[in-house]
Amino acid sequence: MNRLKIISVVGARPQFIKAAAVCRALRQDHDELLVHSGQHYDYAMSDVFFEQLGIPKPDFNLAVGSGSHARQTGEMMPMLEELFTEQCPDLVLVYGDTNTTLAAGLAAAKISIPVAHVEAGLRSFNRRMPEEINRVVVDHLSELLLVPTRAGVANLQAEGITEGVHLVGDVMLDTARFFAENIDSTAALDNFELEREGYYFATVHRAGNSDSSVNLEGIVEAFTQLDKPVVWAIHPRTRKNLKEFGMLERVEAAENIKVIDPTSYIDTISLLGSSAALLTDSGGMQKEAYFFGVPCVTLREETEWVETVELGWNQLVGADPRRILSAVASISRPSLHPNVYGDGRAADAILDVIERAYAD
Ligand code: UD1
Repeated sequence: MNRLKIISVVGARPQFIKAAAVCRALRQDHDELLVHSGQHYDYAMSDVFFEQLGIPKPDFNLAVGSGSHARQTGEMMPMLEELFTEQCPDLVLVYGDTNTTLAAGLAAAKISIPVAHVEAGLRSFNRRMPEEINRVVVDHLSELLLVPTRAGVANLQAEGITEGVHLVGDVMLDTARFFAENIDSTAALDNFELEREGYYFATVHRAGNSDSSVNLEGIVEAFTQLDKPVVWAIHPRTRKNLKEFGMLERVEAAENIKVIDPTSYIDTISLLGSSAALLTDSGGMQKEAYFFGVPCVTLREETEWVETVELGWNQLVGADPRRILSAVASISRPSLHPNVYGDGRAADAILDVIERAYAD
């Protein structure tokens, strides 16, 4: 078997969580160069994940920072193209659906470097989501489509993508299993003065919610009326917009809302795992709630993780306060909890697919 040279490109929180598992598997027998686009740059959005998850220090940091979609994506591309040209990797590995995924996928494919897409095949069927555009484009450019779910395989098939498609399971489960074993959530609960299942955990960052004063208003209204305290880990973009829309003071003054900074990985899974339910518009956290057997109320109208809804663990309610409140009131923990995201060894499956495709 040949030793491969792989360039992995990451840039945003969920990609660090996914790369943590894949880097560990790849580096046993291959050479990996890690590129951080700099899409997320705050300590709480980036560095803390590298530290906690034991991700190797990036070999390159493009430091693109925030910007409009075209600017962010556009600024990354020439830097990535130069790097890929210089380094001549056998493969470029991209993750998920962010602007970093799109920039790296496009830059590599245009100079004929094979692209492998981790978390391929997911669809919300909502083209107003920037992430949906990123996913569709990258899936159509990728040579290897590393798909977490059966629904993902079917989505690709419906778009005519059948070659290079591999059902490997979900790498976020690998990371969750790896860390959950060693986590004592008591520390996080004590630190935030919370009781097990005595609170709801909340996050909101999706553009459709955080850039809309109407949606934020609906979400805040619902949170203030919930029957348990809401621990809200606020994304910087959401904080900025709440302030701009004149809602931040109300949120901070609300008796049952506890606003906290974006949480590290360990704090996130500790707070999530011990909560009565998760309220979120995040994609990854809907799954993490499922991994830990926590009911989820999703503040969106659609989800890529349809299994969680079909199995009764997740309710889609958008940003309408009445729907949010009635969903929380009807929360239950269904008895069925099958392994729809695989067995927590997706990174090994990915390594295997990559080796069979390029190293033999
Ligand atoms: C991005 C991804 C989204 C993913 C999310 C995880 C895209 C299109 N979206 O959304 O799919 O679920 O990451 O968090 O790629 N900001 C900071 N500090 C940071 C990063 C961001 O203050 O370290 C603020 C800036 O005001 C920035 C805004 O957040 O403009 C949005 O950041 P951006 O990276 O564009 O998108 P996210 O909302 O984080």
